[in-house]
Amino acid sequence: MTERSFAVGEAEALEFLAYLTASAELCITEPHYYGTFRLIEAASRLMGLMREESEAGDPWLAGFKSEVDEKKLWMLRDRPAYFAFLKEAAAALAARLTGEPGCSDRADPGPATPRAEPGSGYAEHGEQGEQDVAQGAATLLRMISSRRVVRAFSERPVARADLIQILTAGRWATRGSNSRIHRFLVVEDPSAIRRVRAFSPGMLGVPAAIVVICTDGALADRAEVQLDRDVTPWMDVGTAAMNMMLAAHALGLGSCPVTSFSKSAVGVVLRLPPGVAPEFIVQVGHPAESRRAAPRPPSAAALRDLVCWETYGPHP
Ligand SMILES: Cc1cc2nc3c(=O)[nH]c(=O)nc-3n(C[C@H](O)[C@H](O)[C@H](O)COP(=O)(O)O)c2cc1C
Repeated sequence: MTERSFAVGEAEALEFLAYLTASAELCITEPHYYGTFRLIEAASRLMGLMREESEAGDPWLAGFKSEVDEKKLWMLRDRPAYFAFLKEAAAALAARLTGEPGCSDRADPGPATPRAEPGSGYAEHGEQGEQDVAQGAATLLRMISSRRVVRAFSERPVARADLIQILTAGRWATRGSNSRIHRFLVVEDPSAIRRVRAFSPGMLGVPAAIVVICTDGALADRAEVQLDRDVTPWMDVGTAAMNMMLAAHALGLGSCPVTSFSKSAVGVVLRLPPGVAPEFIVQVGHPAESRRAAPRPPSAAALRDLVCWETYGPHP
């Protein structure tokens, strides 16, 4: 292997240093296998910095970088394949360093192949005309902006098919590390809902159904999520809840979140097993007639009062 030299500017070197330092900090809270992800990303960034001073570039390095950039993302969806790739990658670099045969053959993708990634945007649904996309966006934005919490429900039960759609929306919510450490407990039994409500000052109405989003400690342990340090599991609760409430609204149903409840008491009332914590309750039901007739509340904060562009500061 011929010895080459590389040029790295001070700003680029400082950015790389910043990346390494921030990654070290993140290792305190993230699942331990995330450390491998931060390191392989560092390898990719370093390869990005390794621009040769003279020659056009190293095809081996370019191939290795593009392979790393593709396969590092396997960490999120097929960890065994990702781990296998990490071992392969280290061996490939060792061969490159020592000049052993096979080291330049990075065109070979190796044995590890991840499972197909489900649902990646529009590609899965085939070609859509621009008009369809615009209509879809308009409908979604209308749903987002017209949803308001509903705190008065009729006694009419929620159709099972609607509940399934609501839960499906929760299932597709974005979540940290792509981990699934939450379970959705659906309760429709009126007496169980009444008992939950007794310990839930934030549950003002009496919904036909509730979805209790629970954190499962055993699942968190298995996923190596540090519940005592990592805040992403809380955010996952919020993303799932928001998806469910939007789905309920799209189905003509009302919903309202509840966080003002006694977790310990609701855990007992719902007979949750040890290690399973109720985090968030989504009330679901048909809006009461009074609610249907209620005037729309005044509009939310103007966008210009919420948003800063490029720099944070007071509005002119
Ligand atoms: C994290 C969170 C917790 C909430 N907890 C309660 C609650 O315990 N009881 C309740 O009636 N509403 C609760 N809400 C609903 C908010 O009061 C409501 O979303 C807010 O007033 C804005 O109204 P809108 O959703 O209709 O725009 C909660 C909302 C969020 C995001």
